[in-house]
Amino acid sequence: MENNKNKILVTGGAGYIGSHTCIALHEAGYEVVIYDNLSNSSQEAINRVSSLIGKPIEFIEGDIRDADSLRQVFAAQPFFGVIHFAGLKAVGESVTEPLMYYDNNVSGTITLLKIMAEYEVKNFVFSSSATVYGDPEILPINEDSQRSCTNPYGQSKLTVEHILEDLAVSDNHWNLITLRYFNPVGAHPSGQIGEDPNDIPNNLMPYISQVAVGKLDQLSIFGNDYPTVDGTGVRDFIHVTDLAAGHVAALNYLESQTPAVGFLPINLGTGKGTSVLELLRAFSAVSGQDIPFQFAARRAGDIASCYASADKAKELLGWQASLSITDMCQDSWRWQSMNPNGYNLA
Ligand code: NAD
Ligand code: WQD
Repeated sequence: MENNKNKILVTGGAGYIGSHTCIALHEAGYEVVIYDNLSNSSQEAINRVSSLIGKPIEFIEGDIRDADSLRQVFAAQPFFGVIHFAGLKAVGESVTEPLMYYDNNVSGTITLLKIMAEYEVKNFVFSSSATVYGDPEILPINEDSQRSCTNPYGQSKLTVEHILEDLAVSDNHWNLITLRYFNPVGAHPSGQIGEDPNDIPNNLMPYISQVAVGKLDQLSIFGNDYPTVDGTGVRDFIHVTDLAAGHVAALNYLESQTPAVGFLPINLGTGKGTSVLELLRAFSAVSGQDIPFQFAARRAGDIASCYASADKAKELLGWQASLSITDMCQDSWRWQSMNPNGYNLA
């Protein structure tokens, strides 16, 4: 089957980053098919993506660990490539449920890659994470930094990276772009789609926005004695629509590459660090809400500072983040205040 240069399979496309990327892909002229088991997302997210792009987006409910289901997908239509978001992402849960994490994130990815190989689809963009850098020795972090992980979630991402490296050596037709995201936050400027944690959020931005909207009482800031600007942790927060644009840039790049690029890791970050307190103040300013907080003990496994060198993305992909911390807070707040219960309409 002749590959259609425009058609992209997006695993996990109903999720937070995937849904924003589907919109960016559509705007860039790609045809998108979402493949998702809805284990951490909802039909409502897909409906809203459809409404934002002005036509129903093609959606197949399925699991990346289900080889037969994937075979049907690849047999039915020709894909140029796959953007692979599907996976589990809660660090704490991965410690208590390691087998579930390795099964979804590692076995699932192996199954997907095997079926792609069967159908000669060898363009792959993988959602990796800055977590693969562990506690970095040098900041900003570039792609050649040492990798190490201390929890099963991070280990699952690192294992997939190693698998992709081996795959590239075994067959030089693969394009395996591995995007290492820093801290994705924000939401679509329409306020229609955003991050919708199932339970009490683990991550900072959704926690802050749920305090601001009155769903949670106060933020606990984990540690105020780090060697940082104000003692609180420093991270490279990146707006999810900038991140989505990074995926489009990655696809555009690999379309023009002959021979194939093999395993190619690229950071997606802004290059700037922002502390927990700085983010909190920025959110308070844009939302006009007082956000109560208390200092608490450091969270196990946390590091002091983490921010990207974004040079490689700029040089190779011509991509750089353009949105500010204020934009990120404004869009997170719009999404949270318009949808206090996320996609749960009940
Ligand atoms: P998300 O949970 O919102 O989206 C993941 C999607 O994958 C969900 O829609 C879920 O239903 C689906 N899914 C999970 N397991 C599946 C399976 N076995 N088969 C089919 N679908 C499955 O998460 P997100 O924040 O959008 O993250 C997307 C990817 O980016 C993940 O791989 C995550 O590990 C990675 N990542 C996320 C962050 C972050 O902070 N959000 C940072 C770095 C990397
Ligand atoms: C940021 C800062 C916390 C919550 C995680 C994953 C990583 C990646 C992105 C997937 C830290 C502090 C947080 C709270 C707080 N995900 N904080 N109170 O830990 O940098 O990265 O998400 O790949 O793998 O580990 O993000 O948002 O949880 O924390 O003080 O209630 O906010 O201590 O300094 P993190 P985060």
